[in-house]
Amino acid sequence: MPGVSQYSWNTTNVQGFSQIEVNGQKQVDTTEGLGAFKDLLELGLLKPYTKNLDIGGGEFDDGTRYLADHFIENAVYDPYMRPVYQNEQVLAEVESSPVDTVTSNSVLNVIDNLEARKEHILLAYSVLNPGGQALFKVWAGNETGQGSYTDGCFQSNQPAENYMGEVAEIFGLDNVELLADHKLVIAKK
Ligand SMILES: C[S@@+](CC[C@H](N)C(=O)[O-])C[C@H]1O[C@@H](n2cnc3c(N)ncnc32)[C@H](O)[C@@H]1O
Repeated sequence: MPGVSQYSWNTTNVQGFSQIEVNGQKQVDTTEGLGAFKDLLELGLLKPYTKNLDIGGGEFDDGTRYLADHFIENAVYDPYMRPVYQNEQVLAEVESSPVDTVTSNSVLNVIDNLEARKEHILLAYSVLNPGGQALFKVWAGNETGQGSYTDGCFQSNQPAENYMGEVAEIFGLDNVELLADHKLVIAKK
């Protein structure tokens, strides 16, 4: 569990590519599952021969295999979907050997309070090499801006730009960039 309490995630994760419907058309969701990694690879933000920590990466290892196919070494930390021993092992590893990138795919939008999001963003900052980048993908849900609780999770229904300020508080205003079309906040350490 994270140190700061939040509404728990308690639902199965996506495997492979996740799909969304936009104006009646099915599209790959670029904010979670393999679609998020594909988009980040195509943007050149995830690069071969680097190391990534996927925070809130979920229960499955298909993302790690997908990144390995692109010569990226990936580890997953997820306080709800991975066993404690595995999370502790991963955090110990990145503490002694920081990473080039952090991915946080559709995680900020499931954390229902500011303090817990701050803890999440701080973790991303702390495990990065100087010059490394944290890549925060945000699923805007129904885009109403009204948070919703179900018995499996919270969804903020807010777009990526609404998290810019929180990320900038930790990474510094000059180090944060929004790619709205990609539902992405990029933060440089
Ligand atoms: C929508 S799922 C996305 C899973 C995965 N990143 C993907 O792209 O398919 C949200 C994930 O965030 C994780 N999560 C929730 N709160 C978190 C926190 N405070 N820190 C890290 N991960 C968290 C959940 O356990 C869940 O696996």
